[in-house]
Amino acid sequence: MIGPYAFKLFANPRAGTPGLVVLPDRGFRRARAAITGWTDYVPTPLHLLPTIATRAGVAKVGLKDEAGRFGLGSFKALGGAYAVAMLLANEFSRARTAPADITVTCATDGNHGRAVAWGAHRLGCRCVVFVHETVSQGRVDAIAAYDAEVRRLPGTYDDAVREADRVAHIENWFVVSDTSRPGYTEIPRDIMQGYRLMAEEAADQWQGAQPTHVFIQGGVGGVAAAVSAQMRARYRPVSKLPAPKIIVVEPDKAACLLASAELGAPTAVPGNLDTMMAGLACGEPSLLAWQELERGATAFMAVPDDAAIACMKLLAALGIVSGESGVAGLAGFLLAAGNPAARETLSLGPESRVLLFSTEGATDPALYARLIGPSTTPALP
Ligand SMILES: Cc1ncc(COP(=O)(O)O)c(C=O)c1O
Repeated sequence: MIGPYAFKLFANPRAGTPGLVVLPDRGFRRARAAITGWTDYVPTPLHLLPTIATRAGVAKVGLKDEAGRFGLGSFKALGGAYAVAMLLANEFSRARTAPADITVTCATDGNHGRAVAWGAHRLGCRCVVFVHETVSQGRVDAIAAYDAEVRRLPGTYDDAVREADRVAHIENWFVVSDTSRPGYTEIPRDIMQGYRLMAEEAADQWQGAQPTHVFIQGGVGGVAAAVSAQMRARYRPVSKLPAPKIIVVEPDKAACLLASAELGAPTAVPGNLDTMMAGLACGEPSLLAWQELERGATAFMAVPDDAAIACMKLLAALGIVSGESGVAGLAGFLLAAGNPAARETLSLGPESRVLLFSTEGATDPALYARLIGPSTTPALP
């Protein structure tokens, strides 16, 4: 349906082997109770895409559409804003520190910073967000709209992560990062527990036989790990069927999870991570995410920007707005579905039921309009 575009697929030799429990279920239950209690909480829709399913030669395709999540354009509030709420509650019970006396900070390529800024704004604490040089002005403005201070610096997302840590250490701020490393795991774990609600909603909305495959995009791996953990928690105990296969899809210019899987250890990829899929432009995996995905993921894929743009147009033709980072899973699925060897590797066939997540809408409306083209509604190929 798209392409042809070159892509890479790596079947994970460690898939399914037992390992660490990275996201205990009680943490998810706490996240679900908190987030579903927020006044503006509404589940996002799951769209069925029968035309795409037929053309791709599978039985069913469902796409969870996160564009409307809390009015922020992406799934990220489930994590960043929840982690801010947890942090403020913990600091209050630990030291009776009021939100007004707390500053939270993070690095972002757009969506996470917007979620943290929104969470801080709702609960009345200060927020400072670090962005690297290529984050678009539209994304910066969307963060600043929640009264956050935005600081721009040269380099990549990973440089911004390091700078947020450095300044927070000096200023006594709290880092709300979506990426974990040795010694910094609790906040990223809360973030991933919040993300699981997206997968839980999708499973609640899914009708009929359970999904066989989930294609989910990866930046540092947090959302893919959350989906992996939730699919296993949700499906393994209730049916004799195996849990859905998890296929993690990254931009080919920032495929740190695929590189880690190839090497069998968390690995950073070099270069300037120059992909249009801004939310996925991450060169270093999150430690916790890796610990889930090194066994939870069936396979890893790397796809080019052109495939993502083609998928944005495809969804636009169906009336679904999905941004550059939101379509990577769909791109991975369509490229694999169109390639006999990849179909075989992933056991994709006419009986397959595929769950996808459009993790963002037009989070940068100007860029979205430029990529889709002026008010064109392309016909479905
Ligand atoms: C829209 C979108 N999808 C997916 C991701 C990937 O999430 P993670 O970094 O947890 O892998 C991001 C990250 O910012 C994002 O903004």
